[in-house]
Amino acid sequence: MTDHPTFPAIGRPVDELVAEIRGGRGDDADWRAGRTFSLVYNAADPELERLHEAVAHEYLHENYLNPFAFPSLLRMEREVVAMGADLLHGDPRAGKLTSGGTESIFLAVQVARDHARAERGIAEPAIVLPETAHPAFAKACHYLDVTEVRVPVGPDGRADLAATAAAVDDRTALVVGSAPCYPFGVVDPIPELATLAAERGALCHVDACLGGWLLPFLERLGEPVPPWDMRVEGVTSLSADVHKYGWSFKGASLLLHRDEDLLKRQYFLFDGWPGGLYGSATTAGTRPAAPIAAAWATVRYLGMEGYLRLADQVRAASARFRAGIEAIDGLHVTGDPVPGIMEIAADPGSGIDMGAVGDVMDDRGWHLDRQQGGLHAIISPSHLAAADAFLADLADAVAHHGPSRGVEARYGGVG
Ligand SMILES: Cc1ncc(COP(=O)(O)O)c(C=O)c1O
Repeated sequence: MTDHPTFPAIGRPVDELVAEIRGGRGDDADWRAGRTFSLVYNAADPELERLHEAVAHEYLHENYLNPFAFPSLLRMEREVVAMGADLLHGDPRAGKLTSGGTESIFLAVQVARDHARAERGIAEPAIVLPETAHPAFAKACHYLDVTEVRVPVGPDGRADLAATAAAVDDRTALVVGSAPCYPFGVVDPIPELATLAAERGALCHVDACLGGWLLPFLERLGEPVPPWDMRVEGVTSLSADVHKYGWSFKGASLLLHRDEDLLKRQYFLFDGWPGGLYGSATTAGTRPAAPIAAAWATVRYLGMEGYLRLADQVRAASARFRAGIEAIDGLHVTGDPVPGIMEIAADPGSGIDMGAVGDVMDDRGWHLDRQQGGLHAIISPSHLAAADAFLADLADAVAHHGPSRGVEARYGGVG
């Protein structure tokens, strides 16, 4: 007897299937109640949700493989790129939307690799990045046969400039910084990293997948945000995910290059088959259309005013979380992150096992990511209402945890 289903002999009615799908969701995380952190960025705005549902419905079946068949999508993509470039002080024509942070990073690495080969004759390009940079870079290097050189960070979690300078050499195609990095939520010293890259003729990518649609608004709200965007000379590309703090639904990231010449290196054209000329600007062939339209609609719906309001709510919720965490004996937030992202860590000598604390939190329905130094949280406006319950559970978990159940593989369907 196997529990694998066999191929269905006959079809079933819609209502029955929808009921079964709904019935099977009992163990899914309750993101609307603020129970997830990095998985769903929840603006807690029912009107925005209504907009997303309408847009998804409108563009459910279209295929963005061929933008000329659906000029409305091409128009919306161009407008999102231009609006994002306006926000990030870049060239309104030098970007594309991709399916997410990982794809934006892949393409940035591919562009750097091809630029290094073509312009500098580097046969085996390498990229240099702080150890806090997202695994998407390791994945891209693995797929694209580029050497990855990870450099330790300083005690504040930011890229160590001396170590980076020592790692950059004639093979370096790309120097990477994050704004901010995922593990600690701190912004790397981008101007200095960009200078190190420029001195070698290398490109410099800023991974602002997390911060791209948050830092510009925090800056306007008066938060101390170090320089990181296209205002920094030597930055040649940046990734900014509309499906994270841009508040759109999954499947949209902005990859912005310094100029159109760099963007063109991202294009793939092929006519060596009998099927005509095939061209694409991103890695997928057939492409969902709804994320493009949703990115456009979300930016238009929120506008500067809405993004400022949401960034302020992220700031308020983060301050509430941080104060509550630091009021629990033996816990602290690592370093000095920008509002929104934090690692919750145990004080040295406290004897608190954060893995075990995470297990108790799991059992209570809170989905915190594990990292080597503690638990990781990304804060959305929906967490404001959840803060008291979260902090009470966290205090209880610290006081009453047993031994840890051990580390599980948590990402990408591994495990
Ligand atoms: C800093 C950073 N870069 C890249 C990524 C990858 O983005 P995605 O999961 O959309 O591919 C993430 C995801 O959390 C991130 O935090």
